[in-house]
Amino acid sequence: MMISKKSGNKSVIVVIASIAATGGLLFGFDTGVISGAQNFLQDAGGWGISDSQLEWVTTAVLIGAILGAALSGRITDILGRKKVIIAAAIIFAIGAVATGAAPSVSTLVIGRIVIGIAIGIASFSVPLYISEISPTKSRGALVSMNQLMITIGILVSYITDYAIANDNNPFSWRWMFYVGFIPAIILLVGMFFVPETPRWLIGKGREEEGRKVLEKVEDPELVEESVQKIKADIARESESASYREVFKPWLRTALFIAVGIMFFQQLTGINTIIYYSPKIFKMAGIESNTLSILPSILLGAVNVLFTVVSILLLDKLGRRPLYFIGMSGMVVALVCVGLSFFLESTLGDKLATFTVASMFLYIIFFAVSMGPLGWLIISEVFPLKVRGVGMSLGSLSNWLFNGIVAFTFLKLVNALSAAGAFWLYAGIGILAIIWGFKYIPETKGVTLEQIEDHWREGKKPRELKM
Ligand code: BGC
Repeated sequence: MMISKKSGNKSVIVVIASIAATGGLLFGFDTGVISGAQNFLQDAGGWGISDSQLEWVTTAVLIGAILGAALSGRITDILGRKKVIIAAAIIFAIGAVATGAAPSVSTLVIGRIVIGIAIGIASFSVPLYISEISPTKSRGALVSMNQLMITIGILVSYITDYAIANDNNPFSWRWMFYVGFIPAIILLVGMFFVPETPRWLIGKGREEEGRKVLEKVEDPELVEESVQKIKADIARESESASYREVFKPWLRTALFIAVGIMFFQQLTGINTIIYYSPKIFKMAGIESNTLSILPSILLGAVNVLFTVVSILLLDKLGRRPLYFIGMSGMVVALVCVGLSFFLESTLGDKLATFTVASMFLYIIFFAVSMGPLGWLIISEVFPLKVRGVGMSLGSLSNWLFNGIVAFTFLKLVNALSAAGAFWLYAGIGILAIIWGFKYIPETKGVTLEQIEDHWREGKKPRELKM
């Protein structure tokens, strides 16, 4: 295929990126699908599993994701990005069938761990693939596109959960899990038609193949320049592209920011809403298993919509203002969610409306700030040569903190009451504001080289400016 026009290149890269981003969609789908399945899994007419068994089924994905994120960094270097995403697609497909057909709670947990491994691999290798195959100038926008695909995946899972849910069939959850097979096959087939990344090919000494890929995606006049740039980058990276480098004193701030932003993205409770929302709506008085999914669909749609708003604002308003606006709004909304449970007996029927409204407020503020910012900041704070290793540590922390919240949420509700649990998350949100004041760098319009120099000079994150 010989494409010489600029617009031709652009559509090729959009198609390639969209195919790979199906991995992001699966990340969202397979983490969101559990929300509609939960009430059916606990239905007395079916398995009627306990709260603690449900926590295992929910958290199993996260255990797998931690394993996947930890292992994929090295394997993607050895086998290549494309092969690893193909492997993830196969694991996604096997996991969908295994969970849908699970004969017992323990096999369901194992199936969910398998899916988790695929999610962990995709969460890291898909953005890596997209960023390496993209022309330099559109890399930034594509990082946040991945978050958009995650939110679309979550929405799709809520919609299919709703379409499949049938109050008369306590095993409705089986088909909810089977649906994940379809995007997995789309990813699997699609990945056979996309090329390996030029960076990986050239890094493995396959310069001619790498050049051919660049001829498809890059402007023709930039191909040679890109080959030379990749070779120079690789030479620089191989100087010290090890895990040890990222722990050196001059990079400690960057590492602290990456781990810190993922800590606050997760410990302010986003996934209690994403994974448990129908359960929360049920606690708030919406009785039917099927009807409690409906507000979740709207919640998922609002999440997608405000992620788009965030993508439009990130490069205009900047990272810091969005962080503070978003986190302040999240704290207010969390206090309201807590209040709605606290006032349960006084509010009566009005409770459901107030709970639903507070949860929408929360998701809006999360989607414009911490959702995209978490993944964007970890891709910006590390110098190019340790960005891969740094990003994998960032995503590993994301899954670890995510797992801690998912595993403790229902226990917290039992120990502190629902109000207490959400107020605890609000308290952590206040800490996030204080922490962010010191540590969130304004990376808008700053080149990666400038960020690197900033750390080398031992300057504070707050002092970073265009
Ligand atoms: C988070 C996920 C979350 C999703 C919700 C992502 O940025 O990492 O944990 O489920 O946003 O949109």
